Amino acid sequence: MSQFDLLVAGEINPDLILSGDVTPVFGQVEKLLDDASLTIGSSSAIFACGAARLGLKVAFIGVAGADLFGRFMLEAMQARGVDTSAVIVDSQQPTGLSVILNRGGDRAILTRLGCIASLRAGQVADDLLRSARHLHVASYFLQSALQPGLPDLFRRARSLGLTTSLDTNWDPSAEWRGFDDLLRLVDVFLPNEAECCAIARAPHLPEALEKLSALAGLVAVKRGADGALLRRGAQIIAAAPIPVKVVDTVGAGDSFDAGFLYGYLSGWELPRALRLGVICGGLSTQAAGGVTAQPTLEEAEVYLERMENGK
Ligand SMILES: Nc1ncnc2c1ncn2[C@@H]1O[C@H](COP(=O)(O)OP(=O)(O)O)[C@@H](O)[C@H]1O
Ligand SMILES: [Mg+2]
Repeated sequence: MSQFDLLVAGEINPDLILSGDVTPVFGQVEKLLDDASLTIGSSSAIFACGAARLGLKVAFIGVAGADLFGRFMLEAMQARGVDTSAVIVDSQQPTGLSVILNRGGDRAILTRLGCIASLRAGQVADDLLRSARHLHVASYFLQSALQPGLPDLFRRARSLGLTTSLDTNWDPSAEWRGFDDLLRLVDVFLPNEAECCAIARAPHLPEALEKLSALAGLVAVKRGADGALLRRGAQIIAAAPIPVKVVDTVGAGDSFDAGFLYGYLSGWELPRALRLGVICGGLSTQAAGGVTAQPTLEEAEVYLERMENGK
C-alpha cells in the first residue's frame, strides 16, 4: 500500500480576491470594495485541497518563498489535509500572488510570478514518487522550469508504477507547443474545451477529442455550464452539469479534476467518475475562491444519488 494516493507537482500561490466595483481608476482615486479575501490559489494547490477534501491521501511538491504568503499557503494546505513536507522553501525568491478582480460573472487577474514557476523535474525524487500511486501536474504552461523535464518525470513515475494526469490550463503565449510526446505518457488528460481544441489544433471538440484520445489514455474535457465530455478509445461519455448559483468559477476546473480522479483512482466506472467531476466542479462555484465550497465525498454523494435516480 502506498503512503499517498496522489502526488501533486505544482505551483503555490495565494489569491487575493477583491469583489464589488473593482475597476481601478487611476489619478489616485480611492474606491471602496464590497469584500476582500486571501485564499488558497494556484491550480495545483486548489486541486490538491479538493482531492484531500474528498478523502484521498495527498502529498505536494512545489516551491514557496520564505515569506508571509508562503507560510499562509503551507499552513492553509496542511489545515486541509495536504502533506506539504516535500515543499521546497526558497529564501531567494518571493512567493507568487494573484490578485483577482471579481466583477459579477467576469474577472481580471494580476499575477506576480515569484517562485510559481521554479519547480524542476529533477527535484522530484524517486523516493517521493514511490510514496504515491498517482502523479498529477497542473498549470503546464505556467510551470516553465518543470516543462522541459516533464516527459522524463512522467516516464520515471510510470516505471515506478504510478499512473499520471495532466491539466495544462491556458497557454498565455497561445502557442500550445510540445504536446504529442508528453500526451503519450499521460493516463488522464484534463483540459477544458477551449484548451482541448487549441492543443489538438482542431476547430471543434469531436475532432479534438478524436486526435488527443489517440495519444493519452483518456481525455476528460470540462465544458463549464455544459458539463463534461470524456473519450477513451471509441467510448464517448457525457455528463450534464448540476444546477448551481455561481458566485465565482475560480478553481472549478481543478475541483472537477479532483472529483474525476477520486473516482478514477477508486476504480469506479468512468460515467460515475465523470459525474463526480461535474458535481465537484459545480459545487466549487458556489463560494468565492477555489477551495471554500469544495465538497466532502458525503456532500457530493447526495448529488450523485440524485443524478443516478434521474432527479
Ligand atoms: N456555470 C456552471 N454551472 C454548472 N457547473 C459548472 C459551471 N461552471 C463550471 N461548472 C462545473 O465545473 C467544471 C469545470 O469548470 P470549467 O469552467 O469548465 O473548467 P476550467 O476552470 O478548467 O475552465 C465543469 O465541467 C462543470 O462541471
Ligand atoms: Mg482549468
